[in-house]
Amino acid sequence: MIGVLVSGEGSNLQALIDAGLPIAAVASNRSDVRALARAEAAGIPSRVFELDRYPDRDARDRDMADWLQLRGVDLVVLAGYMHLVTEAFLDRFPDRIVNVHPSLLPEFPGAHAIDDALAAGVETTGVTVHYVDEGVDAGAVIRQEPVPVEPRDTLVQRIHAIEHRILPEVVRELCVP
Ligand code: GRF
Repeated sequence: MIGVLVSGEGSNLQALIDAGLPIAAVASNRSDVRALARAEAAGIPSRVFELDRYPDRDARDRDMADWLQLRGVDLVVLAGYMHLVTEAFLDRFPDRIVNVHPSLLPEFPGAHAIDDALAAGVETTGVTVHYVDEGVDAGAVIRQEPVPVEPRDTLVQRIHAIEHRILPEVVRELCVP
């Protein structure tokens, strides 16, 4: 079963829901986000794990891992999740955590990948789905798709459309035992 970690809009979560994937749980580090409403509308249990309610990140991530595993999660998808996961979390799902990122990694890691690609003046950027390790957007690449920067007024929408197509495809492949 899949656990999805979110922090915001949740459009990638929606793509996973619409693909009919077996999502057992949605965890968020923020309480005020649309992704939680999307989980509720789909009848998926969700819970908020706000960092300031814990002594440190390890304690938060241990609690989050416990909650996910209690719900049978054995594959974790970071879908617009904007916190790093600690080793305490990584150790609980070895080689079973994936992330979607809006650039052709290793180019433009971090939280501002699309703006960084524009600032660098590249002609092509893209989308990467990759395994998560202790680095920032640094684990092994599973799938990448290039996206031309021009026309730049539609770049964000074109990147998101590709995320919403390839993330469910990769997750479906990883669900097969
Ligand atoms: C996506 O572009 C994702 O690649 C990035 O954050 C954005 C959030 O999307 N990491 P959403 O919350 O799934 O709508």
